[in-house]
Formats: sequence, C-alpha cells, structure tokens
Amino acid sequence: MAQGFEFLKEFMRSPSRVGAVWPSSTGLASRMVEWIDWSAVDTVVEYGPGTGAFTRAILNTKPERCRFLAIEFSPILAADLAARYPQVQVVTGSVEDIVCICDEHGIARIDAVVCGLPWSIWTPSLQRSIMRATRDMLSERGYFTTFAYLQGLLLPGGRAFTRLLDEVFPTVQRSRVVWRNLPPAFAYRCRP
Ligand SMILES: C[S@@+](CC[C@H](N)C(=O)[O-])C[C@H]1O[C@@H](n2cnc3c(N)ncnc32)[C@H](O)[C@@H]1O
Repeated sequence: MAQGFEFLKEFMRSPSRVGAVWPSSTGLASRMVEWIDWSAVDTVVEYGPGTGAFTRAILNTKPERCRFLAIEFSPILAADLAARYPQVQVVTGSVEDIVCICDEHGIARIDAVVCGLPWSIWTPSLQRSIMRATRDMLSERGYFTTFAYLQGLLLPGGRAFTRLLDEVFPTVQRSRVVWRNLPPAFAYRCRP
C-alpha cells in the first residue's frame, strides 16, 4: 500500500512520464515473466520499474547468475527501488539512452527486456526511437515483454504501438487479460 501511494504521488508530479495511477498487480507481473526461458537469459534489463511490481517477479524467477539492470526516470522512485532491492543495479535515467547506458555498464547484448513504460500516451516518433534502440540491443534470440491497458488500445498511441510491435518483431503474442489489475491489462510477448 505504501508503494501505491508513493506511485500516486509520482503520477501527480509527472502524469505523462508515469502514465498510471497505481502499480501493476502480481498477476500482471506473472504474465510478464512466466513465458521467458530464463535458462537462456544472462542479462535482463527492466524499463520503468516504478515501485518494483515487476522487479520482484524478475528476482523470483531469474537464475542467480543472471545480471539485472533496471532503468527508472524518476530519481525518487529509482532511489527507493535501489534501497529496497540492493541486488539490482538501478540506473536513474531514460531508456531513450539505452545504448549509452549499456555501453557504460559493459553490456554488449540484452537477453530479456521487461518493460513497464506507458507506451500508449507517447507519440509514435518517441515509441519508434526507443523501440529501434531496444531492438538493436536485444540478442538475436532475446525476449521483449511489455504491457498495455485494455482501454489504452482505443487511444491513437496504443494503436500505433501495436502496429509498431508487429513491424519490429516477427513474433508478437498477447497473454490473457488480467482483470484484477487496475485497470485491466495484458502482456505483449515478443521475439525477434
Ligand atoms: C506505467 S509506470 C509502470 C511502473 C511499474 N513497472 C509497474 O508496472 O507498476 C511507468 C514507469 O516508467 C517510468 N518511465 C517513464 N518514462 C521513462 C523513461 N524514458 N525511461 C525510464 N523510465 C521511464 C516512470 O517513471 C514510471 O515509473
């Protein structure tokens, strides 16, 4: 609950960055990570961890040896996440700089991206530049997973993002809808 209010405060400070009023549920977090073959993942990067709804699920699932970097734009959320999860390398910054961030941290390729960004409220050009850089950093047999709110599919940004995923990835699947998420959402599961 405390994380929920911290998240809400960040949303009120910066609605267009945070893009949600409440953290994702454990049900949605499971839909994000359960389909990945973690035995093939040496490096996972989480985009926009917020208060850590997916961070916990990643930590519970990934093998011990797998490196875990999380990139969060909000300095307040990033500092709090780093304090709660010292085993995660938390970077305060924007995933728009994913190539530089990987370079600075000695990461040549990412095997899995678990992404919590609010794509549907962004312009197609911002979506495209982040996705292009992400695709460049993703291993040939990597995993990309993100989520969408059902109502977000009605927004122009949500529709543009669905088209972009189909353009960038040969394989794009959707999980079942998690109705007990606030609001209901599903995971996109993409492979290069
Ligand atoms: C919709 S919230 C999701 C938070 C969390 N993953 C969850 O599902 O509960 C989006 C998060 O992405 C962060 N964010 C937005 N733009 C970002 C960017 N360019 N780079 C990194 N993080 C960003 C926001 O600060 C926020 O924490």
